[in-house]
Amino acid sequence: MAETTKRMTALVTGASRGIGLAIARELADIGYNLALVARSEGALKQAAAEIEAAGAVKVKPIAADLSNEESYGRIVKETAAAFGTLDLLVNCAGLAQQGSFTDVEPAEWDRIFAVNAKAPFFICKEALPWLKQSQKPIIINIASVVGFKGYINQSVYSSSKHALTGFTKVLAKEVQPFGIRVHLISPGGVATEMVKKMRPDIKPEELLQPEEIAEIVRFLVTRKGTGTIDQFYLRRYSSLAFD
Ligand SMILES: NC(=O)c1ccc[n+]([C@@H]2O[C@H](COP(=O)([O-])OP(=O)(O)OC[C@H]3O[C@@H](n4cnc5c(N)ncnc54)[C@H](OP(=O)(O)O)[C@@H]3O)[C@@H](O)[C@H]2O)c1
Repeated sequence: MAETTKRMTALVTGASRGIGLAIARELADIGYNLALVARSEGALKQAAAEIEAAGAVKVKPIAADLSNEESYGRIVKETAAAFGTLDLLVNCAGLAQQGSFTDVEPAEWDRIFAVNAKAPFFICKEALPWLKQSQKPIIINIASVVGFKGYINQSVYSSSKHALTGFTKVLAKEVQPFGIRVHLISPGGVATEMVKKMRPDIKPEELLQPEEIAEIVRFLVTRKGTGTIDQFYLRRYSSLAFD
């Protein structure tokens, strides 16, 4: 990229590991400057150092607990202060839950909904004024196949991803007049720490790789053409087709 060309900026939540980190690496490769958000400051700093060493982009690690309402505005402000723009928001941070709905306490329900559904909703709201100023504004929400179907013992997780899926459908329409593209990516089992805890029954070789989700993000943000792709639903090859 020519030195005179202004880089675009991406804010990626859940970027300390797993799918979010793979997306961050992919976006850096395309040339986005990055704001990376998660609770683990050490892991974020390590990711930032690795990504900056590999290329020419700048990376700002932002430690934040997305279950706290104060984080929504702060992460957007810190991103804009560092780079002066916000062109792409990737809501990827998420928390899993496993067990019968009869064992769920209200505090656990609140915690999972706070990170999986409430945070993306309000981060989108905070990001909107910045995205409206972008030449190529995009929001990508990472939901799950359980945003469409229900797996036994994942009642809260599945409900929260249904909430995120539903919000994304409305968001896409409400920001359409501003030229902001909104994409929903709904993966099946991906080989990350989360799935190790939730689905130890799935053979590791059958899982998707985080890089496959990052590849879809690259496709969405780099593709040419006038058409728009609302969503990707990506399942493990061993799961039932069109189920
Ligand atoms: N793995 C799968 O099979 C799968 C399938 C479909 C969808 N997804 C979705 O993909 C996204 C990424 O999942 P993953 O598989 O990569 O899981 P992961 O490896 O457990 O990563 C989760 C990420 O979210 C961050 N996070 C969790 N709680 C947070 C909080 N309170 N505040 C800020 N950041 C928080 C974590 O960082 P810290 O712990 O450092 O805060 C981490 O970066 C999630 O939304 C998940 O629901 C995953």
